[in-house]
Amino acid sequence: MEKEYTYEDYENTAKWLIKRINRQPLVAVICGSGLGGLTDKLTETQVFNYSDIPNFPQSTVPGHAGRLVFGLLNGKACVMMQGRFHMYEGYSLSKVTFPVRVFKLMNVETLVVTNAAGGLNPKFEVGDIMLIRDHINLPGLCGQNPLRGPNEDRFGVRFPPMSDAYDRNMRHIAHSVWNQMGEQRELQEGTYVMVAGPNFETVAECSLLQKLGADAVGMSTVPEVIVARHCGLRVFGFSLITNKVITNYESLEKANHEEVLEAGKQAAQKLEQFISNLMASIPQVKA
Ligand code: HPA
Repeated sequence: MEKEYTYEDYENTAKWLIKRINRQPLVAVICGSGLGGLTDKLTETQVFNYSDIPNFPQSTVPGHAGRLVFGLLNGKACVMMQGRFHMYEGYSLSKVTFPVRVFKLMNVETLVVTNAAGGLNPKFEVGDIMLIRDHINLPGLCGQNPLRGPNEDRFGVRFPPMSDAYDRNMRHIAHSVWNQMGEQRELQEGTYVMVAGPNFETVAECSLLQKLGADAVGMSTVPEVIVARHCGLRVFGFSLITNKVITNYESLEKANHEEVLEAGKQAAQKLEQFISNLMASIPQVKA
C-alpha cells in the first residue's frame, strides 16, 4: 500500500503555517457541522482558506466553510478547523486526518473534537451535549482505519493503544465546568459510533447500533481521534445531539441535514460558551 503523504509533506505544511502565524497554538479544535460559529469567539484572528494552504484537502459540504482560523479563545492560543473532511465525501482517511498530523508538527498539544450526532440513547434530547467517553470505529472494524499501511514511526507506534483515547482528566474538568454553568440539562456522557454515511441509518441499523452500546451516531471524528492519539496528542470532545434516531417503523419522521444544521444553530451558543470556558482549564503539557 502506497503512502499518500510523506513525512516531509506534513512538515512542509506545518512550516508554511508556522512562518505565517503570530502565535503558536497549543489547542486545535475541529468544528463539526453547524458549529463553525465557534470561530466568532476568537480574538486576534488569522485566517487561511484551505485552498491556500499547501497540501491541504478542500471541503465540499454545505455548512463547512473550509478555513483554518488561528486566534485566542478565552486567552488560550488555538487553531480551529472550520470545516472538516469526511470519508463520505470520497476522501481517503489520510486526507481526512492530514490536518491532525500538521497540528502535531506545529507543537499543538491538545485536540478538541466536535460533531453533530444522532441520539441513540433514549435519554438524550435534541440540543443535548454529549461528552465523548469512548468510540466505536465501525469502518475501522471492517478495515477502513486511517493507520492502515506502513507505519510512520516518527508519529507513533505500529500498534497504539486506544483504551484511553478521550482524556480522563479533561472529562472530569468538563463536568465541573458544565456544572458551574448552571444549565438545566445535565452534560451527557457516552460512546460515539462512527458510520461511513452519507445516508442516515435504517431503523434496523439504529437498533443494531443501540445494541452495540453506542449512545450517539455520526459520520466523522473517529479517524481524526485515532491519528491524534497515535501521535500522542491529548484528545477530548463533544457531540451535539441534533436529532433522535428513528427506532420504530410507525414513525413519520425522517432525519435530514437541514434539521441537523438547525439544531446545531440553536444549541451552538451553549456549546461555544462551554468550550470557551473550558479553555482556561486545559493544562499545558510542556512548560
Ligand atoms: N446519523 C448519522 N450522522 C448524523 C446523524 C444521524 O442521525 N445526525 C447527525 N449526524
